Amino acid sequence: MSDKIINGSKLAGEIKENLKTEVKKLKEEGRAPGQATILIGNDPAAKSYVNMKKKVAKNLGIKSQVHNLDSDIEEKELINLIYDLNNDRDVDGILIQLPLPEHINETKVIENIDSTKDVDGFHPLNTGRLFSNLKENLNFVPCTPAGVLELIKSTGIEIQGKKAVIVGHSNIVGKPAAHLLLDEFATVTVCHIHTKDLAKETKQADILISAVGKADLITADMVKEGAVVIDVGINKVDGEITGDVDFEAVKEKASYITPVPGGSGPMTIAMLMANTVKARKYHGV
Ligand code: GUN
Repeated sequence: MSDKIINGSKLAGEIKENLKTEVKKLKEEGRAPGQATILIGNDPAAKSYVNMKKKVAKNLGIKSQVHNLDSDIEEKELINLIYDLNNDRDVDGILIQLPLPEHINETKVIENIDSTKDVDGFHPLNTGRLFSNLKENLNFVPCTPAGVLELIKSTGIEIQGKKAVIVGHSNIVGKPAAHLLLDEFATVTVCHIHTKDLAKETKQADILISAVGKADLITADMVKEGAVVIDVGINKVDGEITGDVDFEAVKEKASYITPVPGGSGPMTIAMLMANTVKARKYHGV
């Protein structure tokens, strides 16, 4: 691998090593951090993400419980489980694997999570604090964009004054990533399904982030020479995992680029564990 390929697995590994030491200290202090995950239904990809998070938590010494609920669970029953977890002193972080089945109101469910346990950073109090850059309060930044920012910073480039273009305007990645980069004084453009000329926007990017979930969406002709390219997409093509970016062609133009797998994915999980440790510190023994 050449130096221009940002090794997300390595960076995540370093973060996790530091967290392991912190978890050990917290345990000695009287209580290990605890994490509860709610998974609804049997989607294999969602199951695999949840299992990965559980494995990493275990490896770091974070206590983890998984609640696998039937896809026809009533909203009220789900919210009752959230109340139980909100009141459980051994649980510092609550994660609800998204998306939820159609009959469940996602906003209502998220609003019922104790915001001090919202390690995904999706509760309106946390998104509001991100919007207003209120870092002095306890706030949880969504894990994928937090990881994206760390990946960009790991290159050593100066973000201030750069033009950042984000493709994808989701609440999970695009919108929070825009706020994080704005707070670093990048000039930020967010593109989406109704953007008139996507290539015209992406070609101006010093920092280009794609979080759409469409293989080969970003081709080399859409990328500026020397851009930093962060690929958040996860797509399955002929049984292989690929990102949104035509990696082989784009890496010839980029100054730095993340691979898929091994880029943004491992960082998301590392940031989730960091948020869980932060929540445990806030809650105390
Ligand atoms: N579904 C897709 N990405 C995420 C994520 O970061 N957190 C949760 N809880 N669900 C997701």
